[in-house]
Amino acid sequence: MNLLKNFGRRLFERVEGGFDLAFPAEWNPFRQLGALGWFFYWIVAASGIYLYIFFDTGLTRAYESIEWIMNNQWYVGQVMRSLHRYASDALVVVVVLHLLREFCLDRMRGTRWFAWFTGIPLLWFLYACGISGYWLVWDVLAQYIAIATTEWLDALPIFGEPTAANFVNSAALSGRFFSLMVFIHIAVPLIMLFLMWVHIQRYARPRMNPPRGLAAGTLAALVVLSLVFPAVSQAPADLDTVPAVIGFDWFYLAIYPLLDVVPGGQLWLGLAIGTLVLALLPWAPPLRKPAPAAVDLDNCNGCGRCADDCPFDAITMSPRTDGAAYDTEAVVNTDTCVSCGICAGACPTATPHRRATDLMPGIQLPGYPIAELRDRTRTTGQALSGNDRVMVFGCDQSRDLAELSAPGVGVVLLPCVGMLPPSFIDWVLARDLADGVLISGCAGGDCYQRLGDNWTRQRVARQRDPYMRARVPDERVGLCWTRSGETTRRRRILDALRGQLTTAPKLKRRAERARAAEAARG
Ligand code: HEM
Ligand code: SF4
Ligand code: SF4
Repeated sequence: MNLLKNFGRRLFERVEGGFDLAFPAEWNPFRQLGALGWFFYWIVAASGIYLYIFFDTGLTRAYESIEWIMNNQWYVGQVMRSLHRYASDALVVVVVLHLLREFCLDRMRGTRWFAWFTGIPLLWFLYACGISGYWLVWDVLAQYIAIATTEWLDALPIFGEPTAANFVNSAALSGRFFSLMVFIHIAVPLIMLFLMWVHIQRYARPRMNPPRGLAAGTLAALVVLSLVFPAVSQAPADLDTVPAVIGFDWFYLAIYPLLDVVPGGQLWLGLAIGTLVLALLPWAPPLRKPAPAAVDLDNCNGCGRCADDCPFDAITMSPRTDGAAYDTEAVVNTDTCVSCGICAGACPTATPHRRATDLMPGIQLPGYPIAELRDRTRTTGQALSGNDRVMVFGCDQSRDLAELSAPGVGVVLLPCVGMLPPSFIDWVLARDLADGVLISGCAGGDCYQRLGDNWTRQRVARQRDPYMRARVPDERVGLCWTRSGETTRRRRILDALRGQLTTAPKLKRRAERARAAEAARG
């Protein structure tokens, strides 16, 4: 399984790297697949509502009403219809890519099983929407789908008598089925919307909107496509003839050709097994999760910053239980905590300036306490040499970050850069453990722990509490957001910071003094 994930991950990294050349990093569609899913859903819903206003839901008039929209309203109706179709197709593409990407990046095991698990019924509902939608056009493609679907449904032991045969010669039955499809095509998207909402319930600030530029560009592309290649119906359905289907939508209907070679019952069984396997993937194998964050009430003043910053909504502020003079205390939901450590980075008590015996913050990871982070930072800093020493704080996701290590460069890894309290930057520089600090995390706003990059950026820019101290010179701090494998770009960012250090006034004077002392000795 790991082999498969690693292969997929590398493939995604390659393709995303290519897209990074064409898009600003935050606009890269691969990092916005969930948000694009929402975006396409809204386009489909809005265009669907428009079409419904003019659509005749009766079997006999449905085809004509769609033709009327296409012929009499080419300016809006035709575009709306085409948008409805193309955005539905795009929805399938982004959902399938989203599924594959979450799998390959291993963002579906442990606590994250919930999003994966709730995503699976979404797939079924999505296909039910698409197939019922094609049915409503009531052209020969709809007739083909109607017959193939009812034959396929007959393979399930739920209908008393075969429905398919009746389809060909009973318009009354077709009419009833047609009404059922109209109902399904309206009800299922509503159920989907509810499920999409459930899907992101375990996330703080879920990304439901793509960046404006990406959204505008995508919509413009769909409108242009709709104008140049408008979606059209085929010949009207005729129950007296066997439909000859010409056009085919492979996004929604790819399963139908299989029915010609695989018996319907076996296909149902295959889909059921496939769904079960997909549903069980988060436990294949189960994730051995590090211990969840733990609160130390003696050091918690109830400020709520950890709860604000937790990307997985795993912290609630509850009434105080220890009689201390604060109203609230942080309480961690150990089931939903992913052990990212971001809460420790947010806690004002997690500061390395405190004495060794004091360094017990209000919240931290028992497996990687802040005192240990301070020890590692100190040891790493003490081993550095040169005039442009850099301490790199990086996240576990950058597998190749250790490659930066050199006599003047030390690397300290964390589960997420968001775990680094900004007071560490001040401490490293004030204790002269390094001349500069580089924080290196995931690229393009797609932090593995969701919000660690965002909070780090804001803390360092002194826009979010806990702020980086005012006395820290900006030119001695660098931020680096790269994909793993982007070694050259990361090294370039590091070199730029080192260049900045050698020209920073204080460091320049010190280097000159060191050179003069060396010359005097020599
Ligand atoms: C209409 C379909 C879908 C939409 C609109 C959608 C949308 C989203 C959104 C907005 C997020 C949150 C992203 C964030 O803010 O970090 C998300 C997360 C996730 N989705 Fe979906 N999703 C859909 C279908 C699926 C499917 C079919 C699967 C897989 C079976 C899936 C698996 C996941 C997983 C595992 C996450 C969590 C990622 C993490 O923990 O970082 N989704 N989805
Ligand atoms: S950030 Fe620290 S002090 Fe504030 S509520 Fe959370 S644990 Fe308590
Ligand atoms: S470790 Fe991460 S997921 Fe757990 S409580 Fe802290 S911020 Fe939330």
